[in-house]
Formats: sequence, C-alpha cells, structure tokens
Amino acid sequence: MSAEDRMISADAQNEEEAVIEKSLRPRWLKQYIGQDKIKRELSIYIEAAKKREEALDHVLLYGPPGLGKTTMAMVVANEMAVNIRTTSGPAIEKSGDLVALLNELEPGDVLFIDEIHRMPRLVEEVLYSAMEDYYIDIIVGEGANAHPVHFPLPPFTLVGATTRAGMLSAPLRDRFGIVAHMEYYSVDELKEIVLRSADVLQTPIHEEGALEVARRSRGTPRIANRLLKRVRDFAEVEGSGVVTSEAASEALELLRVDAEGLDSLDHRMLLTMIEMYNGGPVGLSTLAANIGEETETIAYMVEPYLLQAGFIQRTPRGRVVTHYGYEHLGFPIPTDGDK
Ligand code: ADE
Repeated sequence: MSAEDRMISADAQNEEEAVIEKSLRPRWLKQYIGQDKIKRELSIYIEAAKKREEALDHVLLYGPPGLGKTTMAMVVANEMAVNIRTTSGPAIEKSGDLVALLNELEPGDVLFIDEIHRMPRLVEEVLYSAMEDYYIDIIVGEGANAHPVHFPLPPFTLVGATTRAGMLSAPLRDRFGIVAHMEYYSVDELKEIVLRSADVLQTPIHEEGALEVARRSRGTPRIANRLLKRVRDFAEVEGSGVVTSEAASEALELLRVDAEGLDSLDHRMLLTMIEMYNGGPVGLSTLAANIGEETETIAYMVEPYLLQAGFIQRTPRGRVVTHYGYEHLGFPIPTDGDK
C-alpha cells in the first residue's frame, strides 16, 4: 500500500465505493465500535445539550488518520438530530469562504472542519468570535468606505478534526469545550468492525477470516475496511466466496501486507534504519530523504503505528529499531557491541 492510499479518501475512488463507504459508517453511537471513552463522554454531553435544547459545545477530535474522526462527527450530528456541513482546512482559503459556510447554518447545526490545522491563520481568527459568542465582524467596502458589520450567527457546534493537535494555535484549541483523542483500535474491536462491514457488504465471512484481516489493519478501521474489500475480491475469484482465514492470509500476502499489518513502506523504513544506520538512532528527516518520502508522511502516517506497535522507539538522538523490530524483519538482534 502506498502512502497515498493511506490518505484520507474523502474523494473515494469512485462513486460506488463512496456509497459503500458511507454504508459502512455507523450512524449512531451505539453502532460505533471502539473509542469507548470518547463515546461515553460524548453521550453524556449530547444528552445534556439536548435536554437544555442548546447546541453541543465545540468538539476537537485528534489522532492518526483513518480512525473515524469524520464518522464520529457525523454520528454526533445524527445523535443531536441536526444537519452537518462538511469542509476542510485547506478548502477554506479566505475568510469569505468561512463566512459563507457559517451563514448557512441553522440553530444547533454541526460544522465539520477536517484537517483544521491547515486553515489559514486569518480565517482562523474569524472563527474565534464565531465559536465563543456566535457572531462575526466582517469588513465591508474598501478604502474610506470600509466599515465593520456585526453579523450574528445561530448557535452551532464546530467539530474540528486534526492529525496534529500540536499545530493548532492555543487560542483556537482553547475554544473547544470537548477535546477527544482518538486511539488506535484493538484487534478485537477491528474484528467486530470487519464482521459488521462484511454484513453490510453481504460477504460471507468466518470469525477467523475477520480476525486475520483485523490483525493486519494497523489498528485502523479504514485500513480494515479496505483490506476486507480486497480479500472479498480474492475469495470470490480464487476461493469459495467465503472470507476464510486462509483466503484472508493469501490475499493479504498478495497485497504485501505482512502478518503484523506492515506494508512495503513500513518495511522500507525499518530496513533503511537497520541496514544503513545500524538500527539507529537516526533523525526523521534523514530517514525520509533516504526512503524518498516526505518527512510529513513518515511523521504522521508511518511512524505513529510503528511506535505504538513497538517496532521502533523515540530517543533524544533519533529513532531506533527495537529488538522486536529486528526480530519481525528476520534480522538477528544486535548485541550491544554492534551498536
Ligand atoms: N466502520 C468504520 N469504523 C467503524 C467503527 N468505529 N465502528 C463501526 N463501524 C465502523
């Protein structure tokens, strides 16, 4: 799988896929598998806001890509029984774009801004008063005619999603009443998601087949659902049509996804660290240059899972491959003298 494949697929490859993708998304908190802590908190805040007939407080969802931030935003709007408008940080170029979006909101609506850390700073400043007191002041006219116009807004809920909470300015971050960190999913949770998705896709599947897909999905539902579709193709063409554990293993080997879910990019990173840098420590940008990927891609899409799964460690002098990483790649574990 390439780095690009891992990216947010808001523009899913084709329409059919977009439809399936949509139906794979849970619509209610009770259908949403995993992220138990966030669900528990949100369900309380949603119930309280509904009781008071107020808009839900603004919500910031942060964490690695593919963990269901967009889905969670949609679930929140659905639970609140309000409309959701969706945009993304890079899509809002001028404050006028944001004003146009805010202007269309009805009381209680959710405005979802994906990749909110990529919003231009000037646009961000328009959000401050909108979030805090539901108004915006815009400058109308030019030169000597320029004058501010006070523009009241209906109460609304901003749901922001970011892979990089650290990139948000403090004033913006502080205006979110609810801040939720999305975590990687456990294999059990992913297995449940795969079983649910197979049901939606009307694909016959064995528990062990679902487990095999879950194990190799790097803690990420988006990857689990994508692998499930490829395994389904394989089972339909080469097998009995049932996603068995064997069909899943064979299909995933074909896709070059290994038993721990690492793909060719992960392998390239670990191999470079071991073969060129003796297992590290090595800095991220040096590593990225050697692999021929952007530092950002490595930092936000490759490294987090390798860290969390224990293949590499962060040290003050750079990243190092762990013994587990050596073992997994089939290399002898270095003795201290080697390092
Ligand atoms: N599909 C994708 N993510 C999901 C989740 N967290 N729960 C249920 N179905 C999902």
